[in-house]
Amino acid sequence: MTVTLDSLAVVTGGGAGIGRAIAIGLAAQGRTVAILDVRAELARDTAQEIIASGGKAEGFYVDIADMDSVIAARDAVVAKYGPCQVLVNNAGWEEIHRFTETSSDFWQKILGINLLGPIAVTHAFLQGMIDAGHGGRVVNISSDAGRVGSSGEVVYSGAKGGIIGFTKALAREIIRFDITSNCVCPGPTDTPLLRDAPEKLTTALKGAIPARRLAQPEDIMNAVRFFASPDSSYITGQTLSVSGGLTMA
Ligand SMILES: NC(=O)c1ccc[n+]([C@@H]2O[C@H](COP(=O)([O-])OP(=O)(O)OC[C@H]3O[C@@H](n4cnc5c(N)ncnc54)[C@H](O)[C@@H]3O)[C@@H](O)[C@H]2O)c1
Repeated sequence: MTVTLDSLAVVTGGGAGIGRAIAIGLAAQGRTVAILDVRAELARDTAQEIIASGGKAEGFYVDIADMDSVIAARDAVVAKYGPCQVLVNNAGWEEIHRFTETSSDFWQKILGINLLGPIAVTHAFLQGMIDAGHGGRVVNISSDAGRVGSSGEVVYSGAKGGIIGFTKALAREIIRFDITSNCVCPGPTDTPLLRDAPEKLTTALKGAIPARRLAQPEDIMNAVRFFASPDSSYITGQTLSVSGGLTMA
């Protein structure tokens, strides 16, 4: 009962940025990767890139903030490939605003995508992972914002902190099935999400990061790949910051 590198991985938000690197990185190890994204055309592009380099992948539409859409995507994936062994909850969304300038519609959107979305996707796929009896891995992409807070990202920080608590409690429930649950917390990472942030913010961040550069999506992928691997079978409920030393506490 252990995870294998030729099994199915599901990656949400695999059409761009960190999720795209994770999908490519897991496929390079021999896994089949189901790439789920609200921008289905981008998910298909990532899948095409994997297939062109000899890997196995398929893109699917999902809006993780919509439970019906999550169930439809789960059913489509499982009908074709069976239950997954690795689930990477990566899809997320953010916009930088002062908290006092945000509205309840904005909070609902932030929480719907960044907290309830991963919960919905995990709920949809987990029972199949348990029933398959092969063990498995849940890897949630939180954020350093969820560990230490980030100004301009107050509600997002709350959602990402929620993901850390969710990951830990889930870890306690599912390790008996040989399924681990861990969190990777990226620091500032060079992706389309961060490119929308004000330039003076990214310049200041680069100056504050001991490694003197933003993370590349592949830096985050390497941590995810470890938590997804057979090598991490006794590690669960953990939160790993990948931030070039920006946060150490
Ligand atoms: N970039 C950073 O600096 C940074 C830092 C910390 C944490 N993160 C987290 O890393 C993860 C990936 O971020 P990124 O920077 O690659 O973002 P990105 O915007 O570059 O890519 C996110 C992907 O998720 C998809 N997505 C968005 N909403 C969705 C939804 N409702 N349903 C399905 N798919 C959806 C998008 O279409 C996109 O393909 C997110 O959870 C983000 O919060 C990013």
